[in-house]
Amino acid sequence: MPVTAVVGGHWGDEGKGKVINLLARDADLVIRGHGGANAGHTVVNEQGRFAVHLIPAGIFNPRALCIIGPGVAVHPGLLVAELDELGAREIDTAGLRVSTAAHLVMPYHQSLDRAEDEAREERRLGTTGRGIGPTYVDKARRVGLRVGDMLNPAMFREKLRFVLDRKYHELAAVGVARPEADAMADEYLRLAERLEPYITETQPLVDEAVARGRQVVLEGAHATLLDLDHGTYPYVTSSNCTVAGLLQGSGIGPRRLTRAIGVYKAYCSRVGEGPFPTELFDATGDRIREIGHEYGTTTGRPRRCGWFDAVAGRHASRINAFDGIALTRLDLLTGFPELRVCVAYELDGAQIDYFPSQVETLDRCQPIYETFAGWEEPVTGARGWADLPPNAQAYVRRLEVLLEAPVQLIGVGEAREEIVQL
Ligand code: IMP
Repeated sequence: MPVTAVVGGHWGDEGKGKVINLLARDADLVIRGHGGANAGHTVVNEQGRFAVHLIPAGIFNPRALCIIGPGVAVHPGLLVAELDELGAREIDTAGLRVSTAAHLVMPYHQSLDRAEDEAREERRLGTTGRGIGPTYVDKARRVGLRVGDMLNPAMFREKLRFVLDRKYHELAAVGVARPEADAMADEYLRLAERLEPYITETQPLVDEAVARGRQVVLEGAHATLLDLDHGTYPYVTSSNCTVAGLLQGSGIGPRRLTRAIGVYKAYCSRVGEGPFPTELFDATGDRIREIGHEYGTTTGRPRRCGWFDAVAGRHASRINAFDGIALTRLDLLTGFPELRVCVAYELDGAQIDYFPSQVETLDRCQPIYETFAGWEEPVTGARGWADLPPNAQAYVRRLEVLLEAPVQLIGVGEAREEIVQL
């Protein structure tokens, strides 16, 4: 399975870190292809519990090269902080490579992100405030600065001045004082000195790995329903979080892909604003949040929790053509007397089985549920299908049918080995 993509099937936080950590054990190359430090991937292994935001979760395999690809939005200060944190815990980061083509998140992007979201008032998106949206806006406007620009200090200073001249009115409109170009350049160039050993042209590394049939894992961030084109727009992030977006941002042609794995949690959660048809506002929702420790890895915000939405999940499964599913956190459903799965929506009195593209339509959708008997047995010790209680098996089998792809991995605990492989 030389090139495997791992992508989220709902609104993020599905446990991609755990799946990537498992696959990365045998990988030669792990690539992040989009998004930035708005992501948060949790990895639990022999060395402890880690949360990485920009550095690929494959970094815990010291034999793998880990690439931050051209499609990623890189904040150099946060990257250095992450390197320091991993270094302090004796994780070898020598295998990291950062693409010269990746765009830089600048301080004014973060200021704009926060100011713009606040100015939307009741239509605010609840962004992570990491400056990701404004960075991609500048990239598309062709006034972005890239990681490779920092390797030429004189050119970087000149480009930054040019960009700030263009952004002056936009910044002033949201009350951000005109940044001092030289001080900002000094700060970034200092960080660049630290990052220089990692910065490189990554495409030759990717091309060579693919040509030699090396094991490549593409590490998706966020998730399909946060995708700019296929998610709950405008309540989405500013990158393409699908398999296609991940291939694009990694520099790998679609025909090279051999496997696409969709990661879904055994229930749903969402952080930030936007439609979430199966959201629970009752004690069950609170219970899922508490036993699942559903608080954001990046921002610490409480996550909204609800039943598994198979209509939304199938939308993602079809768009990405998942050929396998990793279902995580099944252990957290132990002890619920009954479980529900949304199998269709009721829209204005009629039943629909597709995921509407307009949030105004989604807001009118009521979930139609199938109910499943729960199970009392803990499943954390399960390593094979036969170890799962019959009611858990029935739940998983039904999700496979609804998602139109076979379940290949089931997460039954936080640690890497707490997994059932089918
Ligand atoms: P942004 O990506 O910071 O612009 O935030 C846009 C929306 O995407 C907000 O609702 C965020 O909470 C959400 N979001 C972005 N990245 C993630 C993620 O990795 N997990 C869950 N939600 C995310």
